[in-house]
Amino acid sequence: MKYSRIVGTGGYLPEKILTNADLEKMVNTTDRWIRERTGIYKRHLAAEGQTTCDLSEQAVKLAIEMAGIETNQIDLIIVATTTPDRVFPSTACLLQQRLGIHGCAAFDIQAVCTGFIYALGVADQFIRSGMAMTALVIGAETLSRIIDWTDRNTCVLFGDGAGAVVLKADQVPGILSSHLHADGEYEQLLTVPVGVSQGYDKMQQGETYIQMKGHEVFKIAVNTLGQIVDETLNAHQMDKSEVDWLIPHQANIRIIQATAKKLKMTMDKVVVTVGEHGNTSAASVPLALDVAVRQGKIQRGEVLLMEAFGGGFTWGSVLAKY
Ligand code: COA
Repeated sequence: MKYSRIVGTGGYLPEKILTNADLEKMVNTTDRWIRERTGIYKRHLAAEGQTTCDLSEQAVKLAIEMAGIETNQIDLIIVATTTPDRVFPSTACLLQQRLGIHGCAAFDIQAVCTGFIYALGVADQFIRSGMAMTALVIGAETLSRIIDWTDRNTCVLFGDGAGAVVLKADQVPGILSSHLHADGEYEQLLTVPVGVSQGYDKMQQGETYIQMKGHEVFKIAVNTLGQIVDETLNAHQMDKSEVDWLIPHQANIRIIQATAKKLKMTMDKVVVTVGEHGNTSAASVPLALDVAVRQGKIQRGEVLLMEAFGGGFTWGSVLAKY
């Protein structure tokens, strides 16, 4: 039996920081409201000209260094992003070129905030089936480019960043299972309602912003993440107490607390980065994982439950032994 194991992690946050105090000067909001309703107190923003591929490259270098591999061993690159550098080529192809790699499969996955979970699930299948031996899986976003900075409902929530993992084939797990879901019925609740084949003229004029019915999204996210926890544990007949770490998508501290409660987990076993990172969409889970690994919190052999929920709606989980 072949499994995929996480052998390296990396994260990168752009230098520029936007605090709640900065936002108080931009829209009708307060530091107190943002902290109480979301848990966020700052977020990082890409510099002018800094792209999703740029952020990915920095995260990947650190992940490769930790994994101790050579770039020529990489035979699969998947970038999860909603904010690619270009319409095409994919950000994965651009990243492949930066890394000086030629010939391996490279593609992007678009599942918004669940993107990294989808990408990890797909890469795991490539490795299990023998199609790849060493995969780079990245979640990276420059969400600041699609935020209406006059809309207090959304602009306080999001940030930019990138997280990466190196996955390697191994005889021992590794990733135990992935659980991926979507329901397009909810496309209106969280969307950027333009793209290449719809509203491209608006896109060219820069009117390309995240629109969200936050309260509805919140309620569905809490319920759905509760269900994915059950589904994941049931698949392994595993008790809640057997999960060592919850590494959730970092959208809102209250959503994270609700999932922890469902797992009967104390918050010291939950990796929380939302306060410093904001919601970095596909980058949030790999960034949180990297922070916890580099802080020495997560130890080899421990059981990790990673989960996310996002636009689409999409949602999913990956259960892994680190
Ligand atoms: N500052 C101050 N007030 C704000 C505000 C801000 N930045 N944003 C919204 N408000 C106001 C609203 O206008 C509303 O005012 P009203 O009652 O006068 O109409 C009030 O705060 C409450 O709004 P509501 O949307 O009910 O608040 P909430 O408790 O649901 O919190 C969110 C809002 C966005 C923080 C919360 O709904 C949320 O996190 N949703 C999920 C978002 C998410 O995770 N999205 C990505 C999924 S991956």
